[in-house]
Amino acid sequence: MTSNASYQKQPKAWGSRPTPIVVQAVKLLSGGKERHFSALDIGAGQGRDSLYLAKQGFQVTALDKLAAGLSQIKASDERIETVAADMAQYEFEQKFDLIIAINVLHFLKKSEIESSIGKIKQATARGGLVVVSVLLDNHKLETQELKGYFEDFEIVLYREFVKDDAAHIGAQYPHTHQIAQLIARKRGTVDKTSPTC
Ligand SMILES: C[S@@+](CC[C@H](N)C(=O)[O-])C[C@H]1O[C@@H](n2cnc3c(N)ncnc32)[C@H](O)[C@@H]1O
Repeated sequence: MTSNASYQKQPKAWGSRPTPIVVQAVKLLSGGKERHFSALDIGAGQGRDSLYLAKQGFQVTALDKLAAGLSQIKASDERIETVAADMAQYEFEQKFDLIIAINVLHFLKKSEIESSIGKIKQATARGGLVVVSVLLDNHKLETQELKGYFEDFEIVLYREFVKDDAAHIGAQYPHTHQIAQLIARKRGTVDKTSPTC
């Protein structure tokens, strides 16, 4: 089970490289040009994606319920804004050009997953992207279900696959996960002449 103690003991529990689908989304959003985008990393953990996004010039907010990981993120890059909160209870006050939720939604109750996806969609700026990676192992989300929540967005990428995983926090032995991943774009054009909040 992930905890503040486990994060203190293992500083790079989820690795140090950004999630490939996040790298892909950055390329889609920026089209190779450097622009000043905002990003929200929900369930940021120890910040492998937040740190990558900040290096790409994004103004990053990292949200997680565990303070230990957020402190590690802040220590690595003080430009990143950190928010210690339960995402199921959190009300987003601004809009973001990019919202990522990497391997976190399956920790919520089914009703919380649905309401959180609603809040994520609401907090996405026009033309902005949502990136979700979620485990289907516990059947809180079934196959193809994630995609259905984004019918009013443009689905840029949707895939489901089985991934071999090494032992990590909360899993003593090598194992496999069934994963759904999505990149969806909110309809409209990114307007960088006015602030997104
Ligand atoms: C498997 S880790 C993934 C971390 C990071 N996204 C990554 O891929 O490196 C899941 C993270 O979600 C966080 N988390 C779980 N439930 C949460 C909730 N209700 N609100 C905020 N964060 C949560 C955990 O504390 C943990 O840091």
